[in-house]
Amino acid sequence: MKIVKVSDYQEMSEWAGKQVIEKVKSVRQPILGLATGSTPEGLYRYLIEANKNHDVSFENVTTFNLDEYIGLDRDDPNSYHYFMKEKLFDQIDIDPNRTHLPNGVAADIEQECLDYEALIKKTGVIDLQILGLGVNGHIAFNEPGTSFTSRTQRTDLVEETIEANARFFENKADVPTQAITMGIETIMESKEIILLASGENKAEAVKRLVEGEVTEDFPASILQKHPHVTIVIDEAAASLLK
Ligand code: F6R
Repeated sequence: MKIVKVSDYQEMSEWAGKQVIEKVKSVRQPILGLATGSTPEGLYRYLIEANKNHDVSFENVTTFNLDEYIGLDRDDPNSYHYFMKEKLFDQIDIDPNRTHLPNGVAADIEQECLDYEALIKKTGVIDLQILGLGVNGHIAFNEPGTSFTSRTQRTDLVEETIEANARFFENKADVPTQAITMGIETIMESKEIILLASGENKAEAVKRLVEGEVTEDFPASILQKHPHVTIVIDEAAASLLK
């Protein structure tokens, strides 16, 4: 596990942006795994800027997002489909047909999970997976207690996650209670992983991720076992590390 300490959110976003661009340029048909939430927004702004400046093209890039809320249509402003379109896809030269998120309003959610897994497998292996970190140690929406051998599945969001994500919704009661999430084993199959964490409220989770024991009670701890993972943290997020 490689740790990269940077000064702040901006530097974290730039560092990650450069890695994504390098990957996109060095692989013929790159497959990126993407996250939503506050953490990668700066990274996405960096990629948009680089694309506008013709430093990089996303024409050959395929993407798979980590998760989607169950019950939110792709046009719902709180859906992750909407987030990705607004914050990245609509502003770069990517082919929309190559961008994938689980369908949170599928008639058969279990079948949708199987189909999502199958589509990833058919497309190839994710070259670079971007992750954020939940304050409770979740990666994607794999909450504490999720099996390390999990594949894409339906998950119940825990109270802590609903609380943390309520800031995006008008009322806490509007936050969906379930999601489709890529599984932990699915994520671990990526060739390379970059996890980003910024801010004091992530410091405790970063400490457990880097220095704690590998346990299903803290899903992100599994990353200690990945052969090619980089944790990019700003000073505030790194503040509790030894
Ligand atoms: C989002 C995701 C989540 C977030 C995590 C941190 O697709 O999979 O695991 O990365 O909840 O969220 P933020 O970045 O909003 O602090």
